Amino acid sequence: MRKTMKKEEIKKQIEAWVREFKKASPETILNFFLDHYGKEIAFASSLGAEDQVITHMLAAISRDARIFTLDTGRLFPETCEVLEKTRKKYGLEIEVYFPDYREVEKMVRERGINLFYRSVENRKLCCHIRKTLPLLRALEGCRAWITGLRREQAVTRISVMPVEWDEKHEIVKVNPLFGWSEKQVWDYIREHDIPYNALHDRGFPSIGCQPCTRAVQPGEDVRAGRWWWEQPENRECGLHPGKKENGKI
Ligand code: ADX
Ligand code: SF4
Repeated sequence: MRKTMKKEEIKKQIEAWVREFKKASPETILNFFLDHYGKEIAFASSLGAEDQVITHMLAAISRDARIFTLDTGRLFPETCEVLEKTRKKYGLEIEVYFPDYREVEKMVRERGINLFYRSVENRKLCCHIRKTLPLLRALEGCRAWITGLRREQAVTRISVMPVEWDEKHEIVKVNPLFGWSEKQVWDYIREHDIPYNALHDRGFPSIGCQPCTRAVQPGEDVRAGRWWWEQPENRECGLHPGKKENGKI
């Protein structure tokens, strides 16, 4: 695909890819897009279970693929541990992006360190400064990014496709595990002895920042422990605006 390709042409190309890849394995999807975009694609890893599966697959496909993680400054120590273990096991460079300290200092001065509990607006501001803006820096120069999104994860994610147009970031988004169940993720992790975040064994199926993530009860939704004080349809941080934020609901 040429850089000059218009948005409408890319969207048409995406429709064709969706037809081609909707039954394909995650490895096939990864292989194709890594080859297609080369240095202009990057994998965003939160170091959660899905992303560890993708890192494992990616390490076998290409040693040069870009992997990055966003360190918000509020992560769990267990997340930093799995970052270290993963670098060691696979010998891969995982780029770590941090928020702009000036933005963080201004926000904390004006609204307090734990502002997020007081309103959705405060929570979105914190996610914007600590996650979205660093994501924009990480994606500079990219025409596509890879994520660990799965359809089953949330009401906001039921229409996730293997490949989609990311309207917010104006690039292509590739979701190799879009159709996988939680069981498939965990079977794969065990089968391949992949390092994972110790919190997953303590009732945390989905892990974000420490103050905004808690354990869930058996049978509860996998994202019930993320921003648990908010309504389910608000529980996206801006990295992946749900349909609602795109104005389609
Ligand atoms: S979130 O948007 O609510 O935080 P979730 O934790 O389910 O999302 O992760 C979904 C996908 O977003 C991950 O598979 C990963 O691709 C990307 N992602 C989320 N958090 C991070 C992070 N801290 N660093 C890099 N990528 C992330
Ligand atoms: Fe801030 Fe919580 Fe969002 Fe992390 S998840 S960036 S602490 S509001």
